[in-house]
Amino acid sequence: MNHFDQYGYIVLHDFFSEDELANMYDESGTTNPEIIDAATKRLEGLLDTKLLTNHQKRQAYTKDDTLEYHVDGAACEYALTFTVSQTGDHWPLVIRAVKGDKVVETKSGTAVLYCANMLPHWRPENNTDNQVQGYMYWNDLNTELGSFMQHFELEQRLNITSFMNLKQKENYQYGTTAYERYERPHT
Ligand SMILES: [Fe+2]
Repeated sequence: MNHFDQYGYIVLHDFFSEDELANMYDESGTTNPEIIDAATKRLEGLLDTKLLTNHQKRQAYTKDDTLEYHVDGAACEYALTFTVSQTGDHWPLVIRAVKGDKVVETKSGTAVLYCANMLPHWRPENNTDNQVQGYMYWNDLNTELGSFMQHFELEQRLNITSFMNLKQKENYQYGTTAYERYERPHT
């Protein structure tokens, strides 16, 4: 996962099977806990770390939607997004990474993992008709942030932004590798 360590994001082809995508949500839109566990284990293997599972969501986008430029809270240290279904062209995610803006398409089965609490990201105007996008979020128990977050219940973790705001004020400069501060310790 050198690319992820270096740039703060990575595109993961064939991360979810067609079967998993078809069974991702129940009728109320709750993410299938077995698939969350499977995704967590896969990422722990890829990243060689232990993850703290946070929240998940499903978002339906329609034509002319936009997703504004933003950085997420501390519980979004690792964000995974993937396209559950779509009609028309794909609506890409743009991540402001170290070497510039990266436009990422997550067509069926593909997922992108990114440091949503550090790298600004957005979606430009949506020219496609419908796109359902899934999201899952974790903290890394082997980072400074993750080791802090594990002492809080999920509800509390979702409200924590001050830790990162403090760190961002100290360290984050547009287009730098400030997130390296949160890299897992090298062994
Ligand atoms: Fe976000």
